Amino acid sequence: MSTVAVILAAGLGKRMKSSLPKVLHPILGDPSLLWVLRALPGSVDHAVLVLHHGKPQVEAEIEKWRAEGLLPCPVSTVDQGEPLGTGHAVRAAEAELDRLEADRLLILCGDVPLIQASTLQELATGPAALLAMDLEQPGCYGRVLTHENGTLANMVEYKDANETERTIRLVNGGAYALPWAHLKPALRALSNTNAQGEYYLTDAVVAVAQATPVAVETCNPAELLGMNSRLDQAELQAIARKRINEAWMEEGVTFLEPASTLVGPRAVLAPDVLLEPSVRLEGNVVLGPGTRVGQGTVIRDAEVGAEVLIRPYCVIQKSIVGDKAQIGPFAHLREGSVLEERVHIGNFVETKKATLRVGAKANHLSYLGDTEVGERTNIGAGFISCNYDGVNKHRTTIGKDVFVGSDVQMVAPITIGDNVLIAAGSTLTKNVPEGALALSRAPQVTKDGLGKRFLGRK
Ligand code: UD1
Ligand code: CA
Repeated sequence: MSTVAVILAAGLGKRMKSSLPKVLHPILGDPSLLWVLRALPGSVDHAVLVLHHGKPQVEAEIEKWRAEGLLPCPVSTVDQGEPLGTGHAVRAAEAELDRLEADRLLILCGDVPLIQASTLQELATGPAALLAMDLEQPGCYGRVLTHENGTLANMVEYKDANETERTIRLVNGGAYALPWAHLKPALRALSNTNAQGEYYLTDAVVAVAQATPVAVETCNPAELLGMNSRLDQAELQAIARKRINEAWMEEGVTFLEPASTLVGPRAVLAPDVLLEPSVRLEGNVVLGPGTRVGQGTVIRDAEVGAEVLIRPYCVIQKSIVGDKAQIGPFAHLREGSVLEERVHIGNFVETKKATLRVGAKANHLSYLGDTEVGERTNIGAGFISCNYDGVNKHRTTIGKDVFVGSDVQMVAPITIGDNVLIAAGSTLTKNVPEGALALSRAPQVTKDGLGKRFLGRK
């Protein structure tokens, strides 16, 4: 017995007008396809993606997700070739499904990202079924006809439907749980003599329903909306935003302006987190209790501790921030930044692969790259770690309780001991031992009256 998800994603997505495959377009920072994969229940043993247009791009993304541990189960891909319809798409997976000894299929669309894990859980464990929606305006969806007992009787695509059929409000959501043993012969028997000249999966599902009952489960339409255009994408994102923000509010998170605050599906927020307007959190973001994120701040893949104060307009990615740190405004923490407890990073400070130990401060206009800063060390305004010689990156190591004056450059590789004082305006190229004072300055020249004379000439 094996349950295999078949995710259809071979379509061109013409209406997106994009060079990016439709299923890779993001909703709150995560591509549509990743939302679908993440919603798969634990009982799914394997997922087969049916691809064609943009296949290499999608496969490259899947590799990344696999490396990041974001895939809930093994995933393989098949190439549909020129897409000839949803039935043709599932048929393209036939050999793969046989190889996997699939027993039950969960058929989903890669461009329907908001389907909920709980819905799929029910679909995967219940009888053969399809998900339907009851829509006041059923639009161009396929129409669903049921027997008196509620099981599937027939489906008619909008383009093939007559006037009476078009008045039916129950429509096909395009998600199914079906026995492979029944579906396989039905797919083989499909013809494409219909209004669109396509091999309709729906025809095969109706054929299955003639052999074994297929339940019609009416589902919240918000879960089954597809992303076919940029307008759909914006609407889906608005639905997802509301759903996620409201769930975090229930958990004790304050949103000063929920409508402008974008929290991705993988964020984990503690109680008493406060998000100011226009905050965006993407990927694996963790925020500890009592942390405040200032207006316009963007955080991607970062772990932030408790009671951290992030002032407005910071960008933080692939970084770790300890408890009670203070950051910004206008700070940029790039990949590999580690700020320990109570570190202060001020305005216009950029860090990359930098570790700042407990209580270290860099409050103004600085670049800290490939740098370690010891406990309680104070970095003055305008500090630059010169980490790149044009070919290689080198490390700067600064000890604890060091005072670095303003406008200092350190040419890496360089090591500064503990308890060192570096005078303002110095460019250091050599190591400084523990307890020393280091300075490097050109002597100052002052010429009486010359300034006034020069300015007078202009
Ligand atoms: C399909 C259903 C329709 C249902 C609707 C729900 C059929 C015949 N019709 O409509 O009843 O109301 O979904 O959204 O199934 N795809 C492929 N290969 C193909 C064709 C499509 O991989 O050859 C993929 C698309 O990329 C997409 C999904 O299948 O992810 C659905 O295709 P789409 O064309 O949007 O479905 P419709 O035919 O409009
Ligand atoms: Ca569609």
